[in-house]
Amino acid sequence: MNTPLTKNKKLLAWVEEMARLCRPDRIHWCDGSEQENTDLCDMMVKAGTFTRLNSDKRPGCFLARSHPSDVARVEDRTFICSRNKDDAGPTNHWADPDEMRRKMQSLFDGCMAGRTLYVIPFAMGPLDSPICKIGIELTDSAYVVVNMRIMTRMGQAALDKLGDNGAFIPCLHSVGAPLKPGQADVSWPCEPDPAKKYIVHFLEEPSIWSYGSGYGGNALLGKKCLALRIASVVARKEGWLAEHMLILCVTSPEGRKHYVAAAFPSACGKTNLAMMQPSLPGWSVRCIGDDIAWMRVGDDGRLYAMNPESGFFGVAPGTSNNSNPNAMSTVARNTIFTNVALKPDGDVWWEDMGVPTPAQAIDWQGQAWTPDCGRKAAHPNARFTAPAVQCPVIDPEWQNPAGVPISAFLFGGRRASVAPLVAEAFSWEHGVFMGASAGSETTAAALHQAGVLRRDPFAMLPFCGYHMGDYLAHWLSFVRRTDRSKLPKIFYVNWFRKSGDGRWLWPGFGENSRVLKWVCERVEGTGSAVELPIGLLPSTMALDMTGLDIRPENMEELLRVDAGEWSKEADDAAAYFGQYGAKLPDALMGELEALKRRLSQAK
Ligand code: GTP
Ligand code: SPV
Ligand code: MN
Repeated sequence: MNTPLTKNKKLLAWVEEMARLCRPDRIHWCDGSEQENTDLCDMMVKAGTFTRLNSDKRPGCFLARSHPSDVARVEDRTFICSRNKDDAGPTNHWADPDEMRRKMQSLFDGCMAGRTLYVIPFAMGPLDSPICKIGIELTDSAYVVVNMRIMTRMGQAALDKLGDNGAFIPCLHSVGAPLKPGQADVSWPCEPDPAKKYIVHFLEEPSIWSYGSGYGGNALLGKKCLALRIASVVARKEGWLAEHMLILCVTSPEGRKHYVAAAFPSACGKTNLAMMQPSLPGWSVRCIGDDIAWMRVGDDGRLYAMNPESGFFGVAPGTSNNSNPNAMSTVARNTIFTNVALKPDGDVWWEDMGVPTPAQAIDWQGQAWTPDCGRKAAHPNARFTAPAVQCPVIDPEWQNPAGVPISAFLFGGRRASVAPLVAEAFSWEHGVFMGASAGSETTAAALHQAGVLRRDPFAMLPFCGYHMGDYLAHWLSFVRRTDRSKLPKIFYVNWFRKSGDGRWLWPGFGENSRVLKWVCERVEGTGSAVELPIGLLPSTMALDMTGLDIRPENMEELLRVDAGEWSKEADDAAAYFGQYGAKLPDALMGELEALKRRLSQAK
């Protein structure tokens, strides 16, 4: 064991207790230094966990290939433990805290044998922010350590902030693969049986116990576990919001700035929108965050958002100089790639990277790959982990402890049909209804069948730590927490509508700036709109289409609202809301009735 870097008695006692339970061979307190990082990466290269990439092409970069069973979040194995089952609500997997604690004690018993226990102190949010939270993750994965160093403010600074008496959120993680004496390790240890993986949140303590997976949101516990599931519960109690949202700043050619936050489900375009290069001349977008927003009402009554993370854990496939040039620059160096393909020249490759397909490569499973072999070279949920500071369009305010004032919220998802390109809510309550009834076709970001439509309220279905009915009521409560006129305007967007023959109707990516422009104009009170039963849509002339060659019939289809389809949509939302029982806020029932009324008048 190296010397503990703290005098915090609670922390020292907890580490000792957990070490007694997990029985690692060694304990390493992480200081977050460059040297420590270099040593860990070198060690992982030796162990075969990391492949060092060609330093002329990707300096400071590494590739990791996961076990084929360990490629995404495991929503079925994600549990919320609260004393009252009703506190977790119908959308979470609830488990009895006492029973689960016993289960965890037996799983973690001796689980780190033959391994090192790393103590990772980390901060979510700038250290000087009033809502910065300190977590301590104990893990037996060096991969987790080096990822957490990019994704969070990790190391001695977080411990110093904690101080001798400060409180922290305990996060225990193990890959669940103890080594017998003399047993050789594998390159990606984990528990391969999905039924033995556990991502557990004890709400009352609060604490997080994660067992069996080394992947992303299952293992980097500051992200979905702490900054969303636990933070959402704390936020409700304390009167703020912890959301699955990107934050961006859009500036008009005249220099008018608006901060926008957007909630799309996993792999539905947050990273891309957050750092997009607008196709509209003179407009610019700067990135504050790409996945999580913590928001509170500021002294002036506006909602202020900050990004609790310090890096991007982004989807690699589809990222190209065409779709997201700023992400491509961000991942040019000091980046960890997971489950992408390796080219013979020591650089990485993935599908739709916008560069020539290599004649041969090593695929994400370590197998020889050729373009005609019938398999994908990169896993569809392959990811890059890259520092936010490397993003060429990172906003100068991105670390402002006070956050940035939000002018507009966007909700959305993947809808091949029904949902138009953009619609503005009539009111805050109507906007909350839009977020609450949002649906999206599922993606590879979680282990389930992809492409199936499911309701995903506020893109928070897998991440809200409490009863979704209470969550919706919490959102509605903001009209009482501040002056209604100071709240952001709410919009619903859909970049993913398809034609009858299955092609995207909308070019997306940088062209989404045309929608952002209209959003800014609506916020400023200048953009024109037509009132339809589902909301306010841009009139045909209101979207700036300069320089974009899109057939008029496609544009019409993109903005089409079919009263019949929407009546079915309303019925489906009503059925979905039914599960919230008495916790469904009256205001949302009211919105549903009002929508049905408007639709029947339109028929
Ligand atoms: P998480 O990190 O899982 O939360 O995902 P995300 O919401 O940040 O999604 P991301 O921006 O990484 O995009 C996921 C996939 O959607 C990528 O393959 C993108 O290429 C694709 N995508 C993003 N924006 C658009 C768009 O405007 N149009 C189309 N057609 N595809 C898009
Ligand atoms: C998501 O799935 O929404 C992600 C990736 O951002 S993960 O960190 O694995 O949750
Ligand atoms: Mn996400």
